[in-house]
Amino acid sequence: MMSDILEVENLSVVSHKKGTRSQRIIQGINLNIEKGKITGIVGESGSGKSMTMKAIMNLLEGKLESRFDRFTFEGQIINKREIIKRRLPIAMIFQDPMTSLNPLRTIGYHLMEVIRRYHKVSNMEAKKLAIEELNKVGIDQAQNRMGQYPHELSGGMRQRIMVAMAMLCKPKILIADEPTTALDVTIQAQILSLIRKRQREEGLTVLLVTHDFGVVAQMCDNVIVMLDGKIVEQGTSEAIFYQPAHTYTQELLKAIPGNRVGNRLYSMQEFRLNERQKAEGKMILVAENHWKLEE
Ligand SMILES: Nc1ncnc2c1ncn2[C@@H]1O[C@H](COP(=O)(O)OP(=O)(O)O)[C@@H](O)[C@H]1O
Ligand SMILES: [Mg+2]
Repeated sequence: MMSDILEVENLSVVSHKKGTRSQRIIQGINLNIEKGKITGIVGESGSGKSMTMKAIMNLLEGKLESRFDRFTFEGQIINKREIIKRRLPIAMIFQDPMTSLNPLRTIGYHLMEVIRRYHKVSNMEAKKLAIEELNKVGIDQAQNRMGQYPHELSGGMRQRIMVAMAMLCKPKILIADEPTTALDVTIQAQILSLIRKRQREEGLTVLLVTHDFGVVAQMCDNVIVMLDGKIVEQGTSEAIFYQPAHTYTQELLKAIPGNRVGNRLYSMQEFRLNERQKAEGKMILVAENHWKLEE
């Protein structure tokens, strides 16, 4: 579609482990990501959310290989070499900021590194930019924070630093993979509203990976539901919440604590076993911009 910033056709991720048969982890999915919107990627742990995001970023490690038929960014066809060179303006933040921060380096060092790579400015301007960015992500005493080390900051503040570092890459797409899972509830809400604020200010496209439908309801314009390496349903948040079309989405919604639609706790395990037997489903159109995997 015209309004899509990113389109990937028939994306698979294959694992080649020595001594075992190659295994398809992501099973030929199509991604259509609407520009300037927040798209939620939901699904249980292990459904392939992170793998899909890493495939987009070309961050797959070791024995994992991604394949696709067609990859377009802002309507332009991108070949695999260009993705490998990481020329695309896509930035990512992860669940645990500590894995992306060097404990031996100051906050200022981290920010200046990113600025050096993405902005052509003098040292003094770079420092000013870093401090401005710290203010934008809601970090107080920005000047002092520049000299502090990651362990001197709280988890929430470290995640704010990650948002700052991501934004300094001047991304058009921000991928946030469970950015608040490791944080407590009040801090979670703060980080989410920060992401929302930056998204609105900069007209960013956000891919927000979460296993929490509450977060989706609060944040997302569009939703992609994943199960066992496949997309089972895709639509606007409204469509997914009020007219879920695929049985799996319906059951996921029923399983939300406090949801009055149903109180039976569905066995996802049972569902997954049944679902797996239908190997090659097609996506079918349910309504305008609303797709589900054929059942
Ligand atoms: N390095 C790896 N090699 C092979 N399989 C992996 C690897 N990492 C994850 N997996 C498998 O891929 C599937 C999808 O994982 P992942 O994308 O991390 O799920 P999610 O983010 O939805 O929790 C899981 O079944 C997981 O066990
Ligand atoms: Mg994950």
